[in-house]
Amino acid sequence: MLFFFHKLLMFLATLCLLTGISTATFFRHKPNWLKIHKLFNSAGFIALFTGVVCAFLFVYTSGGEHLDGIHQIVGLFAFVLTGISLFLGFYQFQARTNLQTIKTFHRWLGRFSLLLIIAALILGLRQAGII
Ligand code: HEM
Ligand code: HEM
Repeated sequence: MLFFFHKLLMFLATLCLLTGISTATFFRHKPNWLKIHKLFNSAGFIALFTGVVCAFLFVYTSGGEHLDGIHQIVGLFAFVLTGISLFLGFYQFQARTNLQTIKTFHRWLGRFSLLLIIAALILGLRQAGII
């Protein structure tokens, strides 16, 4: 059950983040882009967080070793970097100095996080023998 939820939540997280980031990349001329970007990326991060908890509990209850493979390590990196991107996304509206640097960091870290998430998804599907 935990493994099923891990897969489901990670799939949903990837879809949410793809939607949220695409909105910022391709639909920035639309009036509601920031609302949608914020909503989908926050939901994506919550799904990612819950999915990591499911994976951790799955490994723990099945007596396995944690972070025992490339999928698990890439997945953890993806999760942490997405968390930092989310933080920077909110923080840029409060920053008094270095605003341009924070924006650039948010943009590039966000893009890199998405790449890592897609890599983790593919590695996970391979590890589970699905592809
Ligand atoms: C965004 C996508 C994903 C991320 C970020 C992610 C992240 C993680 C993390 C951090 C762990 C480590 C848990 C631990 O060692 O305590 C893990 C375990 C695992 N994940 Fe994923 N995962 C993703 C998608 C998937 C998918 C789609 C599958 C399979 C279809 C999958 C299969 C597995 C398996 C089999 C384990 C446990 C391996 C073991 O028993 O040690 N993951 N995942
Ligand atoms: C998981 C969380 C997030 C990720 C992965 C992410 C990712 C990204 C990416 C990749 C871009 C650049 C799009 C492009 O130009 O191609 C971007 C832009 C932007 N994001 Fe996010 N974002 C996240 C959360 C947020 C949040 C919560 C906010 C606001 C509260 C936010 C506000 C913005 C703004 C204002 C821009 C435009 C920045 C600029 O003008 O340079 N983001 N985001």
